[in-house]
Amino acid sequence: MDWTVKPARRLKGEIRVPGDKSIAHRALLLAALAEGASKIEGFPRGADVLSTARAIQALGVAVDERSPASGTYVVEGRGLRGLRAPGSRVDCGNSGTTMRLLSGILAGQRFDSILTGDRSLRSRPMRRIGDPLRAMGSRVETAPGGTAPLEIAGSGVPLRAILYRPEVASAQVKSCVLLAGLYADGRTSVEEPLPTRDHTERLLLAMGASVEITPAGVGQLVSVQPDPALQPIQGRIPADVSSAAYWLVAASLCPDSALTLPRVGLNPSRAAIVDLLRSWGCSIETYDLGNWCGEPFGTLEVRGVDGELTGGLISAERVPGLIDELPLLAALGPFTEDGVEIRGAAELRVKESDRIAATAAALRELGAEVDEFPDGLAVAGRTGLRGGSVSSQGDHRIALAMGAVGLAAERPVTISGAQAMEISYPGFNEALEGVAER
Ligand code: S3P
Repeated sequence: MDWTVKPARRLKGEIRVPGDKSIAHRALLLAALAEGASKIEGFPRGADVLSTARAIQALGVAVDERSPASGTYVVEGRGLRGLRAPGSRVDCGNSGTTMRLLSGILAGQRFDSILTGDRSLRSRPMRRIGDPLRAMGSRVETAPGGTAPLEIAGSGVPLRAILYRPEVASAQVKSCVLLAGLYADGRTSVEEPLPTRDHTERLLLAMGASVEITPAGVGQLVSVQPDPALQPIQGRIPADVSSAAYWLVAASLCPDSALTLPRVGLNPSRAAIVDLLRSWGCSIETYDLGNWCGEPFGTLEVRGVDGELTGGLISAERVPGLIDELPLLAALGPFTEDGVEIRGAAELRVKESDRIAATAAALRELGAEVDEFPDGLAVAGRTGLRGGSVSSQGDHRIALAMGAVGLAAERPVTISGAQAMEISYPGFNEALEGVAER
């Protein structure tokens, strides 16, 4: 699908941002392992979370979608050891989170399973989870390049508790090991090189598991005890701050804007985008604070900025906290005084697309000046964007980022492959037309 975004004067109104994708995956997976039924509202309609819902259904868990409009699911938890062998390969679609987190759970089962996904997911690195799972005694085979399909042989024998120090700072790797740790013979720990999003830890704690988090070096040590009786969960998932970020940027770029985003997740391991945009000159207020299952949230109100944002350097230690927002921040570069430089972000090359190359190519098409490095990119400030045609490269975050900044370009921006938005934010384009004034 081609989507053309026309320049806008301002954005005005209220946007109900979809539920947090990272939390939603974990809510489904852990509800499947709980002792009883969880009724959870606010699931995002994106294809990634549906991949997790289908995967747990394939493992014998009853998942009932009660109200598509409010994203309410009832998940009949089967306990830690109640999953059933899948009848065929489990298809994780485009979702790295589904594949990597589920692998941790499947490593602890009595049955064998095979996980696969679409072409993008089958090209992404999986040794990073295969290695620690094998160290725990699980038999996991990847395809020759260290990619999916993954074959996981479950023995039913408890896994070995380990202390794992991953080379990459990845919440997916940490979560995989912690979930396998639920099936281990003692305390399993992960020491991260830099802190990553901690939704797994928070939800495990809220469900009654024993999780310890202690500072260690520049990162932190997270430990989990095996065999918890996980309590079911109820209530509404906060909105996704990574999806809210497109609105924060779009509204900031259109001077008279005033947008309200209710109930957005503000977990400190995710909300760095809000603080960064504020420090660059964006006007973002937070109120109506609350908490769901250990996850803080609040209403955000963003106003347009008259004048330039500052921009600046985002270096390695800030990358994990902004990982999904980096294409968007790069796309903001041409509208800043100092430009935007991102370094220490080689992980972007192994996301749903090579996000360094995809972002650089799209921004150049629109008239930006971009230098590309192995671990990041630098986008010159004060050029603005001319407009033109770009490709999403099949990646939802590229399509969404280009849509957001397209509102501030001189001429329309046409995004081919815009259907990729369905992965995390179906309906973004319609929501945008609902609040844009021209
Ligand atoms: C995610 C973690 C991040 C992020 C992805 C979702 C998660 O990946 O990019 O979109 O839900 O744990 P890594 O932690 O592997 O970088």
